Amino acid sequence: MALIEIHNVHKKFGNQEVLRGINLSINKGETLAIIGNSGCGKSVLIKHLIGLLQPDLGEIFIDDKNIKDLDRKNLESVRRKFAMVFQGAALFDSLNVYENVSFGLRRIEKDLSETRLKQKVAEVLDIVGMPDTEHKMPSELSGGMRKRVGLARAVAMNPEILLYDEPTTGLDPIMSRVIDDLIVKMKNIFNVTSIVVTHDMVSVFRMSDRVVMVDKGKIIEGGKPEDLSKIDNDVLQKFFRSSINENLSVDNIG
Ligand SMILES: Nc1ncnc2c1ncn2[C@@H]1O[C@H](COP(=O)(O)OP(=O)(O)OP(=O)(O)O)[C@@H](O)[C@H]1O
Ligand SMILES: [Mg+2]
Repeated sequence: MALIEIHNVHKKFGNQEVLRGINLSINKGETLAIIGNSGCGKSVLIKHLIGLLQPDLGEIFIDDKNIKDLDRKNLESVRRKFAMVFQGAALFDSLNVYENVSFGLRRIEKDLSETRLKQKVAEVLDIVGMPDTEHKMPSELSGGMRKRVGLARAVAMNPEILLYDEPTTGLDPIMSRVIDDLIVKMKNIFNVTSIVVTHDMVSVFRMSDRVVMVDKGKIIEGGKPEDLSKIDNDVLQKFFRSSINENLSVDNIG
């Protein structure tokens, strides 16, 4: 069995059917990109993996465990395998970088000494290319720096699985490349499994091993990035073109 198995997941909000039978397996150590137009349910899908949302129908298995069957304690230990880099970084604006990065760690490892915590924060800030920024406030950081602090905070938790929601959206091409390189680096140094929700095809080619497209609540296509461009599917091809155009226009401005 794969590390993550999603079987026939359905989710409605009111009478809006957002997920309409999602089936997906994700193997350990792979980097999977999830693409799809705005509002198609990408964020909703990944929120199911960390238990922020529960399916109306269908099952999710993590490490062969059906998360629906787990008691609180076991659910908590499954959740600890995950860390999420949220759409828009989601830093606490009133806390500095050090406090933001150490926030989750402090909560789960209550007997960690302040010295060890400082070392750990320095280590992860270094990995994301932001050494010695502990004292900075989020308002002093650029969008790309905020995303990297969000990533440092996630990595500090030693996750087995990293979820990224639109990590390069709103960033210039240079910063997008920095983030893509970091996604690859996380896989190479920590052997994490990564799931990356994105609109950005350039990024998909750079960082993913496999890509699936969501449309109208279902996965309509999937494959290696280089093979996907050959698939004869209008929704997919239109998505490709608009993403490439977006990138070209950003390049022209920059
Ligand atoms: N908690 C919620 N309650 C009600 N509706 C929701 C909730 N979360 C999401 N939705 C709706 O579900 C649909 C899918 O939302 P989702 O955030 O997954 O889209 P997305 O594919 O991530 O889009 P984007 O690319 O713009 O981030 C949207 O119509 C949204 O309004
Ligand atoms: Mg989203």
